[in-house]
Amino acid sequence: MTTIAHTPPPHTPPPHTLPPHPPSPLSLAAGTTQRARELTEPLLREAVALLEPWTAVMSSYHLGWCRADGSPVEHASGKAVRPALAVLAAEAVGAPAEAALPGAAAAELIHNFSLIHDDIMDGDEERRRRPTVWKEFGVSGAILAGDALQVLAFDLLLAKGGPHGPAAAGHLAVALRELVEGQACDIQFSARPWSGPGTVTVAEYQAMAMAKTGALLAGASAMGAVLGGADQPLVHALAEAAGQLGLAFQCVDDILGIWGDPAVTGKPVRGDLRERKKSLPVVAASAASGSVARRLAELLADGRSPAGEEEAEKVLLEAAELIEECGGRRACEREAEQALARARASLDLVPMPAGVRAQYTALADSFVARVM
Ligand code: IPE
Ligand code: IPE
Ligand code: MG
Ligand code: MG
Repeated sequence: MTTIAHTPPPHTPPPHTLPPHPPSPLSLAAGTTQRARELTEPLLREAVALLEPWTAVMSSYHLGWCRADGSPVEHASGKAVRPALAVLAAEAVGAPAEAALPGAAAAELIHNFSLIHDDIMDGDEERRRRPTVWKEFGVSGAILAGDALQVLAFDLLLAKGGPHGPAAAGHLAVALRELVEGQACDIQFSARPWSGPGTVTVAEYQAMAMAKTGALLAGASAMGAVLGGADQPLVHALAEAAGQLGLAFQCVDDILGIWGDPAVTGKPVRGDLRERKKSLPVVAASAASGSVARRLAELLADGRSPAGEEEAEKVLLEAAELIEECGGRRACEREAEQALARARASLDLVPMPAGVRAQYTALADSFVARVM
């Protein structure tokens, strides 16, 4: 792999002016993520182009830039929420968006590495409306593509992050360590029972989700703030808020994983149930009492796989209905709303320009209102 050329952090960029009339919160959030994506993509493309050719094609395929044969195409590359958080964190502390870009790109590279490996672990065959990397290129290829993106993230940050690059890399390392711990919990939870002693508790779920998803959102924010020259308390406050947003984000991911429309999410539906994942709707439903909860426990505990795919799907559908009847969906929505409220309360304490605050709030709210 060629190394990334060291360049000083960009200086005095043109300020991003806000539109004259306040747009609706959802379009404001979409504008923020779109802006972050456009600002970050050149760095991502430059970095991925340095990879060994096979890992470069697999990574580019995953990022929606090419077909499996390497020919160029424009395909969905993800919502860019981590770059958006990095950019907003820099702007919140008074720096230009451009200061955050090495952190934004590094967070997005780590995120995509984690997705490529996650799809192997979860056995998922579809992401962003196309076959997953392991499905298209094989498991060995997907492991290598993920590895390559992980190294690239640190390489990019150290090469392009300027004097604050090493500190930002420290934040990324902490986030990655937590992400791995969270994924380890997620996988081990699958072997735990659905009811009785050893059942996964809501508190255990929260810790797992904060780690597997919250940590990288926090890391992206911390990197944006650090690269923007913020001091430690401010970095910490923004990271804390983003960690809570991560919990809210994961709760909604769990809901979409059971009741979402795969044509919209681009991911398989009810895969979590198939894989015995202890996602929050099912954890919360399993804690309920009464005959519906007993029927759900029986259904989930029944280890025998039903004959045929059609029968298996019927069982998963019934499980989804029972989870909803037991209040699992509502409890998960409530958890997302509470985590969002905690994040907003933390953000309220951070001084920042009004235009940045409006974007932060809209982005945070969009994490709970999202359908994909
Ligand atoms: C999916 O993340 C994995 C989770 C942490 C829930 P995103 O929903 O941010 O994935 P993309 O990048 O938009 O596809
Ligand atoms: C999210 O994992 C966290 C990471 C990938 C690190 P999930 O397994 O819950 O996310 P999706 O639903 O596959 O995107
Ligand atoms: Mg997954
Ligand atoms: Mg997973």
